[in-house]
Amino acid sequence: MQNFHQPLGMTRIVHTLAVLALWHGCLAFIYVDPNPRPIIYPPGYDRLAVEMAISRRSPDGPLVWTLSGLREGDIMDDYSNARNVIRDTNKLWINNTVPFAFAPGYTNEQMVEIIKGMKLIMKGSCIKFRSVKIGVDKDFIYIQPLSGCWSLVGRQGTGAQTVSLMPPTNGSTCVYYGVAAHEFLHALGFEHMHDNFNRDDYVTVNFTNVQPKYYHDFDKISKKDYTDFGVPYDYDSVMHYDRYAFSVDPDDATKTTIIPKDPNAVIGQNDHVSKRDFKKLNIRYNCTDFL
Ligand SMILES: *[C@@H]1O[C@H](CO)[C@@H](O)[C@H](O)[C@H]1NC(C)=O
Ligand SMILES: *[C@@H]1O[C@H](CO)[C@@H](O)[C@H](O)[C@H]1NC(C)=O
Ligand SMILES: *[C@@H]1O[C@H](CO)[C@@H](O)[C@H](O)[C@H]1NC(C)=O
Ligand SMILES: *[C@@H]1O[C@H](CO)[C@@H](O)[C@H](O)[C@H]1NC(C)=O
Ligand SMILES: [Zn+2]
Repeated sequence: MQNFHQPLGMTRIVHTLAVLALWHGCLAFIYVDPNPRPIIYPPGYDRLAVEMAISRRSPDGPLVWTLSGLREGDIMDDYSNARNVIRDTNKLWINNTVPFAFAPGYTNEQMVEIIKGMKLIMKGSCIKFRSVKIGVDKDFIYIQPLSGCWSLVGRQGTGAQTVSLMPPTNGSTCVYYGVAAHEFLHALGFEHMHDNFNRDDYVTVNFTNVQPKYYHDFDKISKKDYTDFGVPYDYDSVMHYDRYAFSVDPDDATKTTIIPKDPNAVIGQNDHVSKRDFKKLNIRYNCTDFL
């Protein structure tokens, strides 16, 4: 049998300190939910298939969150609630504050990476992520290492609210700061950019190349429930999908599903929150100092 015991290395100590140094009162970072709400997956959800798809994804393959097996890839709908949308101010985080805790199962390095996603959002807005105060905060984000990367849209008002960020399996992972930021923006009330009501003026969705069972993932979001506050369409959004989202064959370069009308546009980045993402976030949360 292999011996996994190793002396507590300097790296580990440094990383522990790095996590601890990020916020005060962060001893609540890792939290075991005593009464977890059952997660109700949609019919036909196949956890193993999600794990396989993500672990087999090639580095230049589709955005990792599109492989998570839920609506539009990574949106978990709460079937006990009405559909969640950004216009609904009851779905926003109170005082611009998003309390969070990690479920057990992440390494310190992984937590630091996820926290990087929070810091990215905090840098350009008045949103504050901070460690949950158990017994004080009613609602908080509960970051869990489940299958795939996914989130609900907006604050649910139901206590611990899962954001799933799957740790690495064979290389591919949801534990990347840009992926974390994408999922946190869902939790803050964002839907996907490519489903904005005016998207047909900016991209062509080629349904010939979309797997038929994913057609509904290109349904446009209703204008009644969702607004872009007049901010122009944003190819650069971290909420925009890539050219091969839900393709019949993402490895075949000709099987593009989302084609920008601007030939120079780059879509599907997950390395930064765009200027227009921040603009909308700051309007939505009244971050006047950032507007
Ligand atoms: C990870 O890779 C190994 C070797 O390639 C493979 O046997 C295993 O099935 C993979 N695991 C997943 C979850 O795909
Ligand atoms: C929001 O801030 C106000 C004023 O500081 C405070 O009284 C209230 O408890 C806060 N609400 C939440 C949910 O944190
Ligand atoms: C859609 O994809 C098909 C198959 O790859 C291709 O023949 C067709 O020209 C594409 N249509 C557009 C508008 O790009
Ligand atoms: C922002 O301000 C508007 C108008 O004053 C108000 O209706 C809305 O509830 C505020 N939103 C937040 C998140 O404070
Ligand atoms: Zn998403």
